[in-house]
Formats: sequence, C-alpha cells, structure tokens
Amino acid sequence: FRFLRWTWRATYLSAIAGAAYVGYGIWDLRHPDDQPPPDPSKKTLVVLGTGWGSVSLLKKLDTENYNVVVVSPRNYFLFTPLLPSCTVGTIEHRSIMEPIRNFLRHKKAAVKYYEAEATKIDYEKRVIYINDDSEIKGDVSATEVPFDMLVIGVGAENATFGIPGVTEHGLFLKEVGDAQRIRNRIMDCCETATFKDQSPEEIKRLLHMVVVGGGPTGVEFAGELQDFFNSDLKKWLPEIKDTFKVTLVEALPNVLPMFSKQLIEYTEKTFKEETITIRTKTMVKKVTDKYIEAESAGPDGKKIVEQIPYGLLVWATGNALRPIVKDFINQIPAQKDSRRGLAVNEYLVVKGCENVWAVGDCAVANYAPTAQVASQEGAWLARMFNQMAKTHEIEAELAELSVKQETAPGKDARDVVFADIKDLQKRLRRVKQIGPFEYTHQGSLAYIGSEKAVADIAWWSGNIASGGTLTYLFWRSAYISMCFSTRNRILVCVDWVKSKVFGRDVSRV
Ligand code: FAD
Ligand code: NAI
Repeated sequence: FRFLRWTWRATYLSAIAGAAYVGYGIWDLRHPDDQPPPDPSKKTLVVLGTGWGSVSLLKKLDTENYNVVVVSPRNYFLFTPLLPSCTVGTIEHRSIMEPIRNFLRHKKAAVKYYEAEATKIDYEKRVIYINDDSEIKGDVSATEVPFDMLVIGVGAENATFGIPGVTEHGLFLKEVGDAQRIRNRIMDCCETATFKDQSPEEIKRLLHMVVVGGGPTGVEFAGELQDFFNSDLKKWLPEIKDTFKVTLVEALPNVLPMFSKQLIEYTEKTFKEETITIRTKTMVKKVTDKYIEAESAGPDGKKIVEQIPYGLLVWATGNALRPIVKDFINQIPAQKDSRRGLAVNEYLVVKGCENVWAVGDCAVANYAPTAQVASQEGAWLARMFNQMAKTHEIEAELAELSVKQETAPGKDARDVVFADIKDLQKRLRRVKQIGPFEYTHQGSLAYIGSEKAVADIAWWSGNIASGGTLTYLFWRSAYISMCFSTRNRILVCVDWVKSKVFGRDVSRV
C-alpha cells in the first residue's frame, strides 16, 4: 500500500509538473519580450527560405551578432514529415505549420522578414533581387536586398524529368497547397464517380488513384489514402467500395530503395494485404488528362507500353533544382559541373564563393536530401556563425589590449595586460576550434498504412530494422517530439484523436 501511495504521488506530481511546463510554454509563446531592433552597423546576414535548413539555423543563431534578414515566399515553417497525413485529413494542415513571425518575435534581437521570392542572386554586386508574388501588391513589389553574408536554403522543386503532361495533369506533394489540392481531388473523384448515369468504365477510371514514385513520399501517401478508404470513404460512400483502387508505380525493381531489404519486403507484403497494387520496373513516359502511359518489360523481356486510366495522379519522383539555384550555378565557374544542387565544401561554403553558404535540399554535400540533414546543417551553421562573432569580439579586444600594453606605464602594468592577452588568446584558440560539418544519421522512418510503419534506426555502429504496429507507435512519438512547437504538438495530438473518434472529414471545399 505504501508503494502504491508513493507511485500515486509520483504520478500526480509528474502530471502537475508536465501541465506547468506546457502552461509555461503557452504563456511564453503569447508574451514575447521586447527586442532590440536589427543593428545595421553589424554585418548583414541574409537567409533565403523558411524550411528545415534555414529555420534550424535561425533557431540556434544568436541574432544580436548580425543584422539578420530573412526572405521567403512562405511565412511559416512546415513540418513536412506529417504532410502526407494532411492529404486525407488525418491531420489538419495548420497543425503542422508554425508562423515564422511568432518564431522570429522570440529571438533575442529583432530579425527583418520579407515575404517574397528571391528571383536572383547577384554575387558580384552582393545583392539579392526579391519579388512580392502574393495577391496584394503595394507600390513596390520588386526590390533588392544587399548582403555581406548569405545562406541559401531554398529547398528544391518537384522533378518531372520533362515527361510530357506531368505539370499539367499531375498533383505534387511538397507544400500545404499540394496537400489541399489532393484532398479536394480525392473527394471530387469520388463524388463524380457517383454522379447519376456515370458509365462503369468511367467510374473505374475516376476511382483509380495512381501514385508515381515509390520513394517515401509516394509510399506514405499511398498508405494514408488506403487508410482513408478503409476507415471512412467505404462507410460514407458504400457504392464505391468495390471499385476504389490505389496503384503505386515505380521505375526501379522495388519501393523504398533507401530502406533495408527486409523492410522493403515487409512494405510490399503490407501493401498487398491492404490491396494497394505495386507496379515496379514500370516507367511512366507520358501523362494525359485521363491516363498515364507506362513502359515495362513483359515476361519475354519485350517492352510493353500500356495506357493506365486514372482519376487522381500524384507525382512523387523526387527533387529538381529551383530556377534561382540554376541561375546561381551558372554565375560561378567553380559550379559548372553541379547538376543536383550547389556544391559545398565541408564547411557548407558554396564552392567558388566567399561568405555564401548553402543548406538542405539545394546543397549537395553527399547526403540524402532529407529534413534530418537540412536541420543538422542549419544548426551547425548557426554554431559556426555564433563562434565567428565571438572570434571577432575577442580579436577586437586583443587589438585594444595590445595598444594598452604598449602604452602601459611600467613593467608591472605591462605584465598584467600581458596576462590578460594570454587568457584571451587561449579563449580565441578554443573558440576557433570548430570542426567541419559532420552528419549523424539517426535512422529512417516511414508510415506504410494500416497503423504500421517501418524504421531503420542507427544503433551504436549497427542498424536496427523494424516494421509493424509498435514501430508505428514509435513513429508517432518520434514525430510528436520533433514537431516545431508545443502548439504544433498539441494540435497534432488533437487531430489524431479527432480523426480516430469522428472519422476523417469527407467534405470538399
Ligand atoms: P524546404 O524545407 O523545402 O524549405 C525551402 C524554403 O525555401 C521554403 O520556405 C520555401 O518557401 C523557400 N523558398 C523557395 N524558393 C525560394 C526563393 N526563390 N526565395 C526564397 N525562399 C524560397 N525528410 C526527413 O528527413 N524525414 C521525413 O519524414 C520526411 N518526410 C517528408 C515528407 C514529404 C511529403 C516531403 C515532401 C519531404 C519529406 N522529407 C522528409 C524531406 C524534407 O522535407 C526535405 O529534405 C526538407 O524539407 C529540406 O529542407 P530545406 O530547408 O532544404 O527545404
Ligand atoms: P525519391 O527520390 O526518394 O523517390 C522517387 C522515386 O520515383 C524513385 O524511386 C524513382 O525511381 C521513381 N521514379 C522517378 N521517375 C519515375 C517515372 N517516370 N516512373 C516511375 N517511377 C519513377 O523521392 P521522394 O519520395 O519524393 O523523396 C524525396 C526526398 O525526401 C528523399 O531524399 C527522401 O528520403 C525524403 N523523404 C523522406 C521521408 C521519410 O524519411 N519518411 C518521407 C518523404 C521524403
């Protein structure tokens, strides 16, 4: 009984401490302190983008040391790992968005933010040209921003490989708008399929959901979509239950190539049970408004070209360069061989440039284009900038002390200054000891539907591969802990409970 009493007390106290922690987090969010304005006498550090790389840099950066300017057409940070869940309403999109204004308002010194797209980087002149692409435009909607230091974190575009019809008829899955378009399109296809006098052939086409690309984006989306059908659509539109079909098309011999063999097999087996059709070794060559044209090898090894009708087409075939990055590559001779992004050295400096760094999907540093890599790069760069500022501070102090030492009256006074100089030099050496960027891979996680996930987790020098419902619980807890803010965490949890209790919302807006 004594043990039970103590357990009860400990639980009670931890619940109070947890509630107080969350309460303080919310209070703090709503009551930012006053900030000193940006100091134009300091070096101007321009950061392009508000994605994983840039925001992770801004999170750790001591903004008092620089005159920081952020330029991005998106005035929020997006937690992309949960974006596939927004396409079917498991999570509402605003739950995974964090307004950049709220976040910047909590920095020590104020940061200037411009909601604009950077259209060109002029390296020679050290200016960025920016454009306000929003609906409402003022008298000025295009201008330039000078920089002393520049961090490029503009991410990447969707790869289409120039395949005809993809841009016109396919839907992508990178931004919030994409997820909303997919959600509406799914419902539109279902409602149109149940329209009076629709032919069986047309119903079949409209209810065929095709996903091209068997990387993690395609797999996670296919899993979410089948969940949506099994738990909700089937109930509310019973007439579609025998016709609704999800197909995943992949050019390579298997899906999820970055995962271990046993997890690839597990995913393919789970998809089979979920009745998702996987078409591997099938390359899409052309897209029209009603069908895709795919090429595969028949049993005799001969090439087969077939037309696959679809209602919804989600195109998830990886990344391509943004125009601003392409243009910048063309300006720098040392970048002439860069194909997949800006080549950077081990300090993330863009090769062939001075005081220009690149992070995330727009940079090529021999790592996969993931949020994990982008956020580690951003955090490392912030540490380096903080160290650089400290170095400048110490060097200025050292210069002052050497003058003082020369003018000091008598040997004793000179010795005192000399001791101070020695201390500072020691500090300077410590501060300057920042090694190159090194990525620590913590593992790969992906949701595969039916409340199952796969995980390849780095463990000591080895790797743990696991798949199933327990891994799904781990996936959920990992992503909840990684969410940007307490607010995001609460909203995502509420959405999960809401969709479990009431089902996902099938209205089309
Ligand atoms: P982004 O996060 O894409 O940010 C780019 C920023 O630049 C945006 O704010 C954009 O608005 C801005 N921008 C664009 N053009 C300009 C311009 N011209 N001027 C100024 N700003 C500009 N990775 C994982 O590790 N784990 C996952 O589970 C995972 N899940 C994912 C799920 C989906 C659906 C997707 C699409 C990706 C996922 N990723 C995941 C990959 C991850 O999201 C990217 O690797 C990561 O976003 C890259 O970060 P970034 O900062 O380079 O670019
Ligand atoms: P991806 O590059 O990982 O996969 C794209 C797939 O499309 C490839 O397997 C490719 O063979 C296939 N493909 C290309 N053209 C094709 C065609 N014409 N026809 C058929 N198949 C074709 O792209 P994805 O999934 O968009 O991911 C991009 C990046 O984001 C990756 O680095 C990925 O690791 C990361 N990411 C990570 C997630 C996670 O860790 N859970 C989730 C989503 C993305």
